[in-house]
Amino acid sequence: MMTNRTENIFPLTERNAWKALTVHYEQVRRLQLRTLFADDPQRGERMTAEAVGLYLDYSKNLVTDETLTLLLQLARECGLRQRIEAMFSGEKINITEDRAVLHVALRAPKEASIIVDGVNVVPQVHAVLDKMAHFSERVRSGEWKGHTGKRIRNVVNIGIGGSDLGPVMAYEALKYYSDRAMIFRFVSNIDSTDFTEAVHDLDPAETLFIVSSKTFTTLETMTNAHTAREWLLAAFGGDTQSIAKHFVAVSTNAEEVAKFGIDTAQMFEFWDWVGGRYSMTSAIGLSTMLAIGPANFRIMLRGFHQMDEHFRTAPFESNLPVLMGLLTLWYTDFFGTQAVAVLPYEQYLKRFPAYLQQLAMESNGKQMTLNGSRVSYNTSPIYWGEPGTNGQHSFYQLLHQGTSLIPCDFIAFIETLNPLGRHHDILLSNVFAQAEALAFGKTVEQVKAEGTPDWLVPHRIFEGNRPSNTILAERLTPEALGKLVALYEHSVFTQGTIWGINSFDQWGVELGKVLAQRIIPELENKIEPALGHDSSTNQLIRRYRNSKGT
Ligand code: F6P
Repeated sequence: MMTNRTENIFPLTERNAWKALTVHYEQVRRLQLRTLFADDPQRGERMTAEAVGLYLDYSKNLVTDETLTLLLQLARECGLRQRIEAMFSGEKINITEDRAVLHVALRAPKEASIIVDGVNVVPQVHAVLDKMAHFSERVRSGEWKGHTGKRIRNVVNIGIGGSDLGPVMAYEALKYYSDRAMIFRFVSNIDSTDFTEAVHDLDPAETLFIVSSKTFTTLETMTNAHTAREWLLAAFGGDTQSIAKHFVAVSTNAEEVAKFGIDTAQMFEFWDWVGGRYSMTSAIGLSTMLAIGPANFRIMLRGFHQMDEHFRTAPFESNLPVLMGLLTLWYTDFFGTQAVAVLPYEQYLKRFPAYLQQLAMESNGKQMTLNGSRVSYNTSPIYWGEPGTNGQHSFYQLLHQGTSLIPCDFIAFIETLNPLGRHHDILLSNVFAQAEALAFGKTVEQVKAEGTPDWLVPHRIFEGNRPSNTILAERLTPEALGKLVALYEHSVFTQGTIWGINSFDQWGVELGKVLAQRIIPELENKIEPALGHDSSTNQLIRRYRNSKGT
Protein backbone atom coordinates (compact mmCIF):
# COMPACT_ATOMS: atom_id res chain seq x y z
CA MET A 1 0.00 0.00 0.00
CA MET A 2 1.19 3.46 -0.82
CA THR A 3 2.11 5.56 2.18
CA ASN A 4 1.22 9.22 2.48
CA ARG A 5 4.01 10.79 0.47
CA THR A 6 3.45 14.51 0.27
CA GLU A 7 6.62 16.57 0.29
CA ASN A 8 7.31 19.56 2.36
CA ILE A 9 7.91 22.21 -0.23
CA PHE A 10 8.65 25.78 0.76
CA PRO A 11 6.10 28.00 -1.04
CA LEU A 12 7.55 29.25 -4.32
CA THR A 13 6.12 32.74 -3.94
CA GLU A 14 7.85 33.08 -0.56
CA ARG A 15 11.28 32.46 -2.01
CA ASN A 16 13.63 35.43 -1.96
CA ALA A 17 14.42 35.15 -5.65
CA TRP A 18 10.72 34.99 -6.54
CA LYS A 19 10.04 38.14 -4.53
CA ALA A 20 13.02 39.83 -6.15
CA LEU A 21 11.78 38.76 -9.58
CA THR A 22 8.35 40.24 -8.83
CA VAL A 23 9.94 43.62 -8.10
CA HIS A 24 12.36 43.26 -11.00
CA TYR A 25 9.54 42.47 -13.42
CA GLU A 26 7.93 45.84 -12.70
CA GLN A 27 11.22 47.51 -13.56
CA VAL A 28 11.85 45.69 -16.82
CA ARG A 29 8.42 44.87 -18.21
CA ARG A 30 8.48 47.83 -20.56
CA LEU A 31 12.01 47.24 -21.78
CA GLN A 32 12.37 47.11 -25.53
CA LEU A 33 14.54 44.58 -27.31
CA ARG A 34 15.50 47.38 -29.70
CA THR A 35 16.96 49.31 -26.78
CA LEU A 36 18.58 46.30 -25.18
CA PHE A 37 20.36 45.48 -28.42
CA ALA A 38 21.29 49.10 -29.11
CA ASP A 39 22.75 49.49 -25.61
CA ASP A 40 24.76 46.29 -25.82
CA PRO A 41 26.18 45.60 -29.27
CA GLN A 42 27.57 42.27 -28.01
CA ARG A 43 24.22 41.00 -26.75
CA GLY A 44 23.65 38.64 -29.68
CA GLU A 45 27.01 37.00 -29.06
CA ARG A 46 26.94 37.16 -25.28
CA MET A 47 23.51 35.76 -24.59
CA THR A 48 24.17 32.44 -26.18
CA ALA A 49 25.15 29.05 -24.90
CA GLU A 50 26.54 26.07 -26.72
CA ALA A 51 26.77 22.51 -25.55
CA VAL A 52 27.06 19.06 -27.09
CA GLY A 53 26.67 20.54 -30.55
CA LEU A 54 23.53 22.59 -29.92
CA TYR A 55 23.78 26.37 -30.10
CA LEU A 56 21.17 28.35 -28.18
CA ASP A 57 20.72 32.04 -28.92
CA TYR A 58 18.53 33.43 -26.14
CA SER A 59 19.46 37.06 -26.69
CA LYS A 60 16.06 37.93 -28.19
CA ASN A 61 14.33 37.40 -24.85
CA LEU A 62 12.87 40.10 -22.65
CA VAL A 63 15.60 39.72 -20.08
CA THR A 64 18.53 41.63 -18.68
CA ASP A 65 21.59 40.19 -16.97
CA GLU A 66 19.81 40.86 -13.70
CA THR A 67 16.79 38.84 -14.82
CA LEU A 68 19.01 35.88 -15.57
CA THR A 69 20.84 36.20 -12.27
CA LEU A 70 17.55 36.16 -10.38
CA LEU A 71 16.13 33.26 -12.38
CA LEU A 72 19.29 31.25 -11.76
CA GLN A 73 19.08 32.14 -8.09
CA LEU A 74 15.47 30.91 -8.08
CA ALA A 75 16.60 27.59 -9.55
CA ARG A 76 19.17 27.24 -6.78
CA GLU A 77 16.75 28.24 -4.03
CA CYS A 78 14.29 25.64 -5.30
CA GLY A 79 16.98 22.96 -5.03
CA LEU A 80 17.14 22.21 -8.74
CA ARG A 81 20.62 20.70 -8.42
CA GLN A 82 19.48 18.30 -5.70
CA ARG A 83 16.34 17.38 -7.64
CA ILE A 84 18.43 16.57 -10.71
CA GLU A 85 20.61 14.32 -8.58
CA ALA A 86 17.54 12.75 -7.02
CA MET A 87 16.20 11.89 -10.48
CA PHE A 88 19.50 10.59 -11.84
CA SER A 89 20.16 8.48 -8.78
CA GLY A 90 16.82 6.70 -8.92
CA GLU A 91 15.02 8.31 -5.97
CA LYS A 92 11.27 7.88 -6.12
CA ILE A 93 10.54 11.47 -7.07
CA ASN A 94 7.21 10.52 -8.66
CA ILE A 95 5.63 10.53 -5.24
CA THR A 96 1.99 10.11 -6.24
CA GLU A 97 2.82 6.83 -7.97
CA ASP A 98 5.72 5.94 -5.68
CA ARG A 99 8.10 5.50 -8.61
CA ALA A 100 11.59 6.43 -9.65
CA VAL A 101 11.91 8.51 -12.82
CA LEU A 102 14.74 7.06 -14.80
CA HIS A 103 14.43 7.66 -18.51
CA VAL A 104 18.06 8.79 -18.22
CA ALA A 105 18.98 5.17 -17.36
CA LEU A 106 17.66 4.10 -20.77
CA ARG A 107 20.56 5.84 -22.45
CA ALA A 108 23.22 5.28 -19.81
CA PRO A 109 26.35 3.47 -21.01
CA LYS A 110 26.78 -0.22 -20.13
CA GLU A 111 29.29 0.44 -17.38
CA ALA A 112 27.00 2.88 -15.50
CA SER A 113 25.23 1.80 -12.34
CA ILE A 114 21.84 3.16 -11.33
CA ILE A 115 20.16 1.46 -8.42
CA VAL A 116 16.40 1.13 -8.02
CA ASP A 117 15.12 -0.87 -5.05
CA GLY A 118 18.58 -2.33 -4.55
CA VAL A 119 19.04 -3.43 -8.18
CA ASN A 120 21.31 -1.93 -10.84
CA VAL A 121 18.91 -1.34 -13.72
CA VAL A 122 21.53 -0.59 -16.40
CA PRO A 123 22.27 -4.26 -17.28
CA GLN A 124 18.50 -4.83 -17.74
CA VAL A 125 18.33 -1.84 -20.06
CA HIS A 126 21.17 -3.16 -22.20
CA ALA A 127 19.78 -6.69 -22.23
CA VAL A 128 16.53 -5.36 -23.74
CA LEU A 129 18.44 -3.19 -26.19
CA ASP A 130 20.38 -6.25 -27.33
CA LYS A 131 17.18 -8.25 -27.69
CA MET A 132 15.63 -5.42 -29.73
CA ALA A 133 18.74 -5.24 -31.91
CA HIS A 134 18.74 -8.98 -32.54
CA PHE A 135 15.07 -8.92 -33.50
CA SER A 136 15.45 -5.81 -35.66
CA GLU A 137 18.33 -7.35 -37.56
CA ARG A 138 16.31 -10.48 -38.25
CA VAL A 139 13.34 -8.50 -39.54
CA ARG A 140 15.42 -6.05 -41.56
CA SER A 141 17.49 -8.78 -43.16
CA GLY A 142 14.43 -10.84 -44.08
CA GLU A 143 15.48 -13.71 -41.86
CA TRP A 144 12.30 -13.29 -39.80
CA LYS A 145 9.52 -14.62 -41.98
CA GLY A 146 5.77 -14.18 -41.80
CA HIS A 147 3.32 -17.06 -41.47
CA THR A 148 3.43 -17.91 -45.18
CA GLY A 149 7.19 -17.55 -45.47
CA LYS A 150 7.17 -14.04 -46.93
CA ARG A 151 9.54 -11.47 -45.47
CA ILE A 152 8.16 -8.62 -43.35
CA ARG A 153 7.85 -5.40 -45.31
CA ASN A 154 5.33 -3.51 -43.20
CA VAL A 155 5.53 -2.57 -39.55
CA VAL A 156 2.44 -1.22 -37.80
CA ASN A 157 2.94 0.23 -34.32
CA ILE A 158 -0.25 0.17 -32.28
CA GLY A 159 -0.05 2.47 -29.25
CA ILE A 160 -1.26 5.82 -28.01
CA GLY A 161 0.16 8.79 -26.09
CA GLY A 162 3.75 8.08 -25.16
CA SER A 163 3.51 4.71 -26.87
CA ASP A 164 2.79 6.46 -30.17
CA LEU A 165 3.95 10.07 -30.25
CA GLY A 166 7.63 9.35 -29.65
CA PRO A 167 7.73 6.51 -32.21
CA VAL A 168 5.87 8.58 -34.86
CA MET A 169 7.95 11.66 -34.25
CA ALA A 170 11.23 9.72 -34.34
CA TYR A 171 10.22 7.79 -37.46
CA GLU A 172 9.39 11.02 -39.29
CA ALA A 173 12.44 12.83 -37.92
CA LEU A 174 14.82 10.06 -38.95
CA LYS A 175 13.14 8.94 -42.14
CA TYR A 176 16.27 9.89 -44.06
CA TYR A 177 18.11 7.10 -42.21
CA SER A 178 15.33 4.55 -42.51
CA ASP A 179 15.07 1.45 -44.66
CA ARG A 180 12.97 2.73 -47.57
CA ALA A 181 12.04 -0.79 -48.62
CA MET A 182 9.89 -1.04 -45.51
CA ILE A 183 6.60 0.69 -44.75
CA PHE A 184 5.91 2.04 -41.26
CA ARG A 185 2.45 2.94 -40.03
CA PHE A 186 1.19 4.10 -36.65
CA VAL A 187 -2.27 3.38 -35.32
CA SER A 188 -3.32 5.22 -32.18
CA ASN A 189 -6.87 6.51 -32.34
CA ILE A 190 -9.89 4.45 -31.27
CA ASP A 191 -11.53 5.90 -34.38
CA SER A 192 -11.78 2.89 -36.72
CA THR A 193 -10.64 5.06 -39.59
CA ASP A 194 -7.15 5.09 -38.15
CA PHE A 195 -6.74 1.31 -38.31
CA THR A 196 -8.60 0.96 -41.60
CA GLU A 197 -6.47 3.53 -43.39
CA ALA A 198 -3.24 2.23 -41.86
CA VAL A 199 -3.70 -1.30 -43.25
CA HIS A 200 -5.87 -0.75 -46.33
CA ASP A 201 -3.03 -1.38 -48.79
CA LEU A 202 -0.99 -3.83 -46.70
CA ASP A 203 -0.57 -7.54 -47.27
CA PRO A 204 -1.15 -9.33 -43.92
CA ALA A 205 1.46 -11.91 -44.90
CA GLU A 206 4.11 -9.17 -44.92
CA THR A 207 2.88 -7.19 -41.89
CA LEU A 208 4.24 -7.11 -38.37
CA PHE A 209 2.24 -5.50 -35.57
CA ILE A 210 4.01 -4.05 -32.56
CA VAL A 211 1.52 -3.64 -29.75
CA SER A 212 3.08 -0.90 -27.63
CA SER A 213 1.54 -0.21 -24.27
CA LYS A 214 3.16 0.30 -20.92
CA THR A 215 0.10 -1.01 -19.10
CA PHE A 216 -1.31 -3.24 -21.86
CA THR A 217 -4.76 -2.22 -20.67
CA THR A 218 -5.27 1.05 -22.55
CA LEU A 219 -8.69 0.94 -24.21
CA GLU A 220 -7.65 2.38 -27.56
CA THR A 221 -4.56 0.22 -27.92
CA MET A 222 -6.20 -3.01 -26.83
CA THR A 223 -9.21 -2.41 -29.08
CA ASN A 224 -6.95 -1.71 -32.06
CA ALA A 225 -4.76 -4.70 -31.20
CA HIS A 226 -7.79 -7.01 -31.15
CA THR A 227 -8.94 -5.58 -34.47
CA ALA A 228 -5.47 -6.18 -35.90
CA ARG A 229 -5.60 -9.76 -34.63
CA GLU A 230 -8.94 -10.31 -36.38
CA TRP A 231 -7.65 -8.70 -39.58
CA LEU A 232 -4.68 -11.03 -39.57
CA LEU A 233 -6.62 -14.15 -38.66
CA ALA A 234 -9.16 -13.40 -41.38
CA ALA A 235 -6.33 -13.52 -43.89
CA PHE A 236 -5.03 -16.84 -42.58
CA GLY A 237 -8.32 -18.70 -42.20
CA GLY A 238 -8.34 -18.20 -38.44
CA ASP A 239 -5.01 -19.99 -37.94
CA THR A 240 -3.82 -18.69 -34.55
CA GLN A 241 -0.32 -20.06 -35.25
CA SER A 242 0.13 -16.96 -37.41
CA ILE A 243 0.04 -14.64 -34.37
CA ALA A 244 3.56 -15.60 -33.32
CA LYS A 245 5.01 -14.45 -36.63
CA HIS A 246 3.07 -11.21 -36.89
CA PHE A 247 2.71 -9.83 -33.38
CA VAL A 248 5.22 -8.63 -30.83
CA ALA A 249 4.54 -6.64 -27.68
CA VAL A 250 6.29 -3.81 -25.89
CA SER A 251 5.13 -3.50 -22.32
CA THR A 252 5.79 -3.60 -18.59
CA ASN A 253 2.89 -6.00 -18.09
CA ALA A 254 3.83 -9.57 -19.05
CA GLU A 255 0.63 -11.00 -17.62
CA GLU A 256 -1.64 -8.95 -19.89
CA VAL A 257 0.63 -9.59 -22.89
CA ALA A 258 0.25 -13.34 -22.34
CA LYS A 259 -3.52 -12.95 -21.91
CA PHE A 260 -3.71 -11.21 -25.27
CA GLY A 261 -2.03 -14.23 -26.83
CA ILE A 262 1.47 -12.94 -27.47
CA ASP A 263 4.20 -15.24 -26.21
CA THR A 264 6.19 -13.28 -23.61
CA ALA A 265 9.35 -14.42 -25.41
CA GLN A 266 8.20 -11.94 -28.05
CA MET A 267 7.72 -9.18 -25.55
CA PHE A 268 10.20 -6.34 -25.20
CA GLU A 269 10.19 -5.20 -21.65
CA PHE A 270 10.44 -1.85 -19.95
CA TRP A 271 9.80 -0.75 -16.41
CA ASP A 272 7.47 1.31 -14.27
CA TRP A 273 10.21 3.89 -13.75
CA VAL A 274 9.87 4.91 -17.41
CA GLY A 275 7.04 7.40 -17.86
CA GLY A 276 5.00 6.95 -21.05
CA ARG A 277 5.96 10.35 -22.46
CA TYR A 278 9.62 9.69 -21.60
CA SER A 279 9.71 6.25 -23.18
CA MET A 280 10.92 6.72 -26.76
CA THR A 281 14.39 5.47 -25.79
CA SER A 282 12.96 2.33 -24.16
CA ALA A 283 11.61 -0.68 -26.05
CA ILE A 284 8.80 1.65 -27.10
CA GLY A 285 11.39 2.73 -29.67
CA LEU A 286 11.29 -0.70 -31.34
CA SER A 287 9.64 0.69 -34.47
CA THR A 288 12.34 3.38 -34.59
CA MET A 289 15.04 0.73 -34.37
CA LEU A 290 13.37 -1.35 -37.07
CA ALA A 291 13.30 1.72 -39.30
CA ILE A 292 16.80 3.10 -38.79
CA GLY A 293 18.64 0.00 -37.59
CA PRO A 294 20.25 -0.78 -34.23
CA ALA A 295 23.46 1.16 -34.93
CA ASN A 296 21.61 4.40 -35.63
CA PHE A 297 19.34 3.79 -32.64
CA ARG A 298 22.39 3.54 -30.39
CA ILE A 299 23.75 6.75 -31.91
CA MET A 300 20.44 8.42 -31.01
CA LEU A 301 20.81 7.14 -27.44
CA ARG A 302 24.31 8.60 -27.36
CA GLY A 303 22.85 12.00 -28.23
CA PHE A 304 20.32 11.73 -25.42
CA HIS A 305 23.04 10.71 -23.00
CA GLN A 306 25.27 13.64 -23.94
CA MET A 307 22.46 16.07 -23.16
CA ASP A 308 21.65 14.17 -19.94
CA GLU A 309 25.24 14.58 -18.79
CA HIS A 310 25.28 18.23 -19.78
CA PHE A 311 22.10 18.83 -17.78
CA ARG A 312 23.47 16.97 -14.80
CA THR A 313 26.90 18.58 -14.68
CA ALA A 314 27.01 21.97 -16.44
CA PRO A 315 26.79 25.12 -14.35
CA PHE A 316 23.28 26.53 -14.55
CA GLU A 317 24.57 29.69 -16.31
CA SER A 318 25.53 27.66 -19.35
CA ASN A 319 23.08 24.80 -18.96
CA LEU A 320 20.82 24.73 -22.00
CA PRO A 321 17.78 22.97 -20.50
CA VAL A 322 18.01 25.06 -17.34
CA LEU A 323 18.17 28.31 -19.31
CA MET A 324 15.26 27.32 -21.53
CA GLY A 325 13.18 26.12 -18.60
CA LEU A 326 13.80 29.34 -16.67
CA LEU A 327 12.93 31.54 -19.63
CA THR A 328 9.65 29.70 -20.09
CA LEU A 329 8.91 30.19 -16.40
CA TRP A 330 9.76 33.90 -16.64
CA TYR A 331 7.14 34.47 -19.33
CA THR A 332 4.54 32.14 -17.87
CA ASP A 333 4.65 33.46 -14.34
CA PHE A 334 5.61 37.09 -14.73
CA PHE A 335 4.40 38.15 -18.17
CA GLY A 336 1.38 35.84 -17.87
CA THR A 337 1.94 34.24 -21.27
CA GLN A 338 0.05 31.03 -21.94
CA ALA A 339 1.78 29.40 -24.86
CA VAL A 340 5.11 28.49 -26.37
CA ALA A 341 5.31 28.09 -30.14
CA VAL A 342 7.79 25.45 -31.27
CA LEU A 343 8.77 26.14 -34.83
CA PRO A 344 11.16 23.67 -36.42
CA TYR A 345 12.55 24.86 -39.74
CA GLU A 346 13.08 21.26 -40.73
CA GLN A 347 10.42 19.27 -42.52
CA TYR A 348 11.53 16.01 -40.91
CA LEU A 349 10.57 17.48 -37.52
CA LYS A 350 6.96 18.00 -38.53
CA ARG A 351 5.67 15.86 -35.63
CA PHE A 352 8.03 17.37 -33.07
CA PRO A 353 5.53 19.98 -31.80
CA ALA A 354 2.88 17.24 -31.35
CA TYR A 355 5.40 15.18 -29.41
CA LEU A 356 6.25 18.16 -27.20
CA GLN A 357 2.58 18.74 -26.47
CA GLN A 358 2.41 15.54 -24.49
CA LEU A 359 5.88 15.88 -23.03
CA ALA A 360 5.28 19.36 -21.66
CA MET A 361 1.56 19.52 -21.02
CA GLU A 362 1.00 16.06 -19.56
CA SER A 363 4.05 16.66 -17.38
CA ASN A 364 3.42 20.15 -16.12
CA GLY A 365 -0.28 20.77 -16.69
CA LYS A 366 -0.81 20.51 -12.93
CA GLN A 367 -2.30 22.73 -10.26
CA MET A 368 -1.26 20.89 -7.09
CA THR A 369 2.17 21.17 -5.55
CA LEU A 370 3.99 18.16 -4.17
CA ASN A 371 2.55 18.89 -0.75
CA GLY A 372 -1.01 18.85 -2.06
CA SER A 373 -1.79 22.55 -1.93
CA ARG A 374 -3.02 24.52 -4.91
CA VAL A 375 -0.45 26.61 -6.76
CA SER A 376 -0.89 30.37 -6.76
CA TYR A 377 0.97 30.86 -10.03
CA ASN A 378 0.68 29.57 -13.57
CA THR A 379 2.19 26.24 -14.56
CA SER A 380 2.63 24.71 -18.01
CA PRO A 381 2.03 26.88 -21.02
CA ILE A 382 0.44 25.36 -24.11
CA TYR A 383 3.07 23.98 -26.49
CA TRP A 384 2.14 23.99 -30.13
CA GLY A 385 3.59 24.67 -33.53
CA GLU A 386 4.14 23.69 -37.12
CA PRO A 387 7.25 23.40 -39.22
CA GLY A 388 8.52 26.53 -40.91
CA THR A 389 7.85 27.99 -43.38
CA ASN A 390 4.30 26.59 -43.45
CA GLY A 391 3.38 28.28 -40.18
CA GLN A 392 4.42 31.63 -41.62
CA HIS A 393 1.58 31.43 -44.12
CA SER A 394 -0.92 30.46 -41.49
CA PHE A 395 -0.72 31.59 -37.85
CA TYR A 396 2.37 33.83 -37.74
CA GLN A 397 0.07 36.79 -38.27
CA LEU A 398 -0.98 36.38 -34.66
CA LEU A 399 2.62 35.98 -33.48
CA HIS A 400 3.54 39.30 -35.10
CA GLN A 401 0.48 41.47 -34.62
CA GLY A 402 -1.92 39.61 -32.34
CA THR A 403 -2.78 40.64 -28.80
CA SER A 404 -1.15 37.60 -27.18
CA LEU A 405 2.52 37.47 -26.37
CA ILE A 406 3.82 34.07 -27.50
CA PRO A 407 7.45 33.19 -26.94
CA CYS A 408 8.80 31.14 -29.84
CA ASP A 409 11.44 28.45 -30.11
CA PHE A 410 12.95 28.38 -33.58
CA ILE A 411 14.87 25.22 -34.44
CA ALA A 412 17.09 24.95 -37.51
CA PHE A 413 19.99 22.98 -38.95
CA ILE A 414 22.98 24.44 -40.73
CA GLU A 415 23.06 21.66 -43.29
CA THR A 416 20.10 20.10 -45.02
CA LEU A 417 19.92 16.38 -45.61
CA ASN A 418 18.43 17.01 -49.03
CA PRO A 419 20.33 19.79 -50.79
CA LEU A 420 18.32 21.18 -53.65
CA GLY A 421 19.20 24.43 -55.37
CA ARG A 422 18.69 27.47 -53.12
CA HIS A 423 16.08 25.88 -50.88
CA HIS A 424 18.16 25.68 -47.74
CA ASP A 425 19.50 29.24 -47.89
CA ILE A 426 15.96 30.48 -48.38
CA LEU A 427 14.69 28.32 -45.52
CA LEU A 428 17.37 29.57 -43.14
CA SER A 429 16.94 33.17 -44.23
CA ASN A 430 13.30 32.80 -43.21
CA VAL A 431 14.02 31.47 -39.76
CA PHE A 432 16.51 34.26 -39.06
CA ALA A 433 14.14 36.83 -40.53
CA GLN A 434 11.20 35.70 -38.41
CA ALA A 435 13.13 35.96 -35.16
CA GLU A 436 14.40 39.38 -36.23
CA ALA A 437 10.94 40.62 -37.23
CA LEU A 438 9.37 39.41 -34.00
CA ALA A 439 12.02 41.08 -31.88
CA PHE A 440 12.46 44.39 -33.65
CA GLY A 441 9.28 44.87 -35.63
CA LYS A 442 8.75 47.89 -37.83
CA THR A 443 8.19 51.37 -36.43
CA VAL A 444 5.73 54.06 -37.54
CA GLU A 445 8.63 55.98 -39.01
CA GLN A 446 9.81 53.04 -41.03
CA VAL A 447 6.31 52.35 -42.33
CA LYS A 448 5.79 56.01 -43.24
CA ALA A 449 9.18 56.23 -44.91
CA GLU A 450 7.99 53.56 -47.33
CA GLY A 451 5.35 55.97 -48.55
CA THR A 452 2.47 54.18 -46.86
CA PRO A 453 -0.69 56.34 -46.78
CA ASP A 454 -1.45 57.57 -43.25
CA TRP A 455 -4.67 55.60 -42.86
CA LEU A 456 -2.81 52.35 -43.61
CA VAL A 457 0.14 53.02 -41.32
CA PRO A 458 -1.37 51.55 -38.08
CA HIS A 459 -2.14 48.30 -39.88
CA ARG A 460 1.39 47.92 -41.12
CA ILE A 461 3.22 48.58 -37.88
CA PHE A 462 4.96 45.70 -36.16
CA GLU A 463 5.47 46.63 -32.55
CA GLY A 464 8.12 43.93 -32.13
CA ASN A 465 9.44 43.03 -28.68
CA ARG A 466 8.24 39.47 -29.14
CA PRO A 467 10.69 37.04 -27.64
CA SER A 468 12.25 33.96 -29.16
CA ASN A 469 15.00 31.41 -28.75
CA THR A 470 16.89 30.10 -31.74
CA ILE A 471 18.37 26.62 -31.53
CA LEU A 472 20.88 25.70 -34.20
CA ALA A 473 22.48 22.34 -34.82
CA GLU A 474 24.77 21.16 -37.55
CA ARG A 475 22.64 18.48 -39.20
CA LEU A 476 19.63 16.37 -38.30
CA THR A 477 21.25 13.09 -37.31
CA PRO A 478 19.96 10.45 -34.88
CA GLU A 479 22.40 11.91 -32.36
CA ALA A 480 21.13 15.46 -32.87
CA LEU A 481 17.54 14.31 -32.44
CA GLY A 482 18.48 12.66 -29.15
CA LYS A 483 20.07 15.88 -27.91
CA LEU A 484 17.08 17.95 -28.94
CA VAL A 485 14.50 15.72 -27.28
CA ALA A 486 16.55 15.48 -24.08
CA LEU A 487 16.91 19.28 -24.12
CA TYR A 488 13.14 19.65 -23.91
CA GLU A 489 12.73 16.79 -21.43
CA HIS A 490 15.07 18.51 -19.02
CA SER A 491 13.65 21.96 -19.69
CA VAL A 492 10.27 20.54 -18.66
CA PHE A 493 11.92 19.02 -15.58
CA THR A 494 13.44 22.38 -14.68
CA GLN A 495 10.04 24.08 -14.90
CA GLY A 496 8.26 21.37 -12.90
CA THR A 497 10.90 21.42 -10.18
CA ILE A 498 10.59 25.15 -9.65
CA TRP A 499 6.80 25.01 -9.72
CA GLY A 500 7.06 22.31 -7.04
CA ILE A 501 4.74 19.96 -8.92
CA ASN A 502 5.02 16.30 -9.89
CA SER A 503 5.91 16.29 -13.58
CA PHE A 504 5.62 12.51 -13.75
CA ASP A 505 2.03 11.57 -13.02
CA GLN A 506 -1.07 12.20 -15.16
CA TRP A 507 -4.14 11.81 -12.98
CA GLY A 508 -5.87 14.42 -15.10
CA VAL A 509 -6.50 11.90 -17.88
CA GLU A 510 -8.36 9.46 -15.64
CA LEU A 511 -11.82 10.99 -15.19
CA GLY A 512 -12.68 11.06 -18.88
CA LYS A 513 -11.59 7.43 -19.24
CA VAL A 514 -13.85 6.33 -16.37
CA LEU A 515 -16.84 8.28 -17.68
CA ALA A 516 -16.38 6.82 -21.16
CA GLN A 517 -16.47 3.30 -19.68
CA ARG A 518 -19.81 4.17 -18.12
CA ILE A 519 -21.20 5.59 -21.35
CA ILE A 520 -20.10 2.74 -23.67
CA PRO A 521 -22.87 0.35 -22.53
CA GLU A 522 -25.37 3.21 -22.62
CA LEU A 523 -24.65 3.58 -26.33
CA GLU A 524 -24.58 -0.13 -27.04
CA ASN A 525 -27.44 -1.52 -24.94
CA LYS A 526 -30.38 -2.68 -27.00
CA ILE A 527 -32.70 -1.70 -24.17
CA GLU A 528 -33.09 2.03 -23.56
CA PRO A 529 -30.89 2.68 -20.50
CA ALA A 530 -31.93 4.90 -17.61
CA LEU A 531 -29.56 7.84 -18.00
CA GLY A 532 -28.25 9.58 -14.93
CA HIS A 533 -26.01 12.22 -16.41
CA ASP A 534 -26.63 15.94 -16.71
CA SER A 535 -29.32 16.97 -19.20
CA SER A 536 -26.78 17.83 -21.90
CA THR A 537 -24.94 14.49 -21.76
CA ASN A 538 -28.24 12.59 -21.52
CA GLN A 539 -29.55 14.36 -24.60
CA LEU A 540 -26.40 13.74 -26.62
CA ILE A 541 -26.56 10.04 -25.76
CA ARG A 542 -30.27 9.86 -26.72
CA ARG A 543 -29.66 11.66 -29.97
CA TYR A 544 -26.86 9.30 -30.92
CA ARG A 545 -28.91 6.23 -29.97
CA ASN A 546 -31.95 7.46 -31.91
CA SER A 547 -29.92 8.32 -34.99
CA LYS A 548 -28.06 5.06 -35.16
CA GLY A 549 -31.33 3.24 -34.46
CA THR A 550 -30.21 1.28 -31.40
O1 F6P B 1 -3.82 8.42 -20.92
C1 F6P B 1 -2.55 8.91 -20.76
C2 F6P B 1 -1.52 7.82 -20.82
O2 F6P B 1 -1.46 7.14 -19.63
C3 F6P B 1 -0.17 8.39 -21.20
O3 F6P B 1 0.51 8.91 -20.14
C4 F6P B 1 0.48 7.24 -21.86
O4 F6P B 1 1.58 7.64 -22.61
C5 F6P B 1 -0.67 6.71 -22.67
O5 F6P B 1 -1.80 6.88 -21.84
C6 F6P B 1 -0.55 5.29 -23.12
O6 F6P B 1 -0.44 4.38 -22.06
P1 F6P B 1 0.03 2.91 -22.30
O7 F6P B 1 1.41 2.93 -22.85
O8 F6P B 1 -0.04 2.24 -20.95
O9 F6P B 1 -0.92 2.26 -23.26
